[in-house]
Amino acid sequence: MIALYPGSFDPVTVGHMDIITRAASLFERVVVGVFHNPDKPSGAFPLKERLSLLEIAAGHLANVSFRAFSGLAVEGARACDADVIIRGIRTADDIALEVQMAQLNRALSGIETALLPAAPQFVHISAGMVRQIGCLGGDLTGLVPEKVRPLVLQRLYKANKEGVQDDGV
Ligand code: PNS
Repeated sequence: MIALYPGSFDPVTVGHMDIITRAASLFERVVVGVFHNPDKPSGAFPLKERLSLLEIAAGHLANVSFRAFSGLAVEGARACDADVIIRGIRTADDIALEVQMAQLNRALSGIETALLPAAPQFVHISAGMVRQIGCLGGDLTGLVPEKVRPLVLQRLYKANKEGVQDDGV
């Protein structure tokens, strides 16, 4: 079976890595798909950069490949012959949203979604929090894969320095 793991991955976190690794042991092939989330219009990392961070972090997994998509997740799933969509869930809020997305995606395409509960040590980690901590020059150890930590920090901190007016505080 082929699985598509769609997400924003803006940037990849250790929580994503946990889902990718577990999915890779469950399915013959896993395609990690970088999608635009219309609810998050301004991404911190360009799509190409998110893809290359994923390749650096998870490129060692032999049955995992990486692709950027535009459009619907179900169209991406069809384009890579995926039988199933994978999503990770952390909190009760995640479950409500993910069940709705899974039902909509099944209604649109017949493709089922398998939800993998996050490992307990990662439930507090989100890409949004990583962006916030990184922008302010905080320590990303244990939050993003070690191989990409300097790249993520450099990009976030630099973008913040360039984009924020110094108000003297
Ligand atoms: O990592 P995220 O931001 O939680 O991922 C959300 C994502 C990218 C999976 C979702 O926004 C998505 O599927 N985007 C593609 C557009 C789409 O198919 N929307 C309908 C979802 S029911």
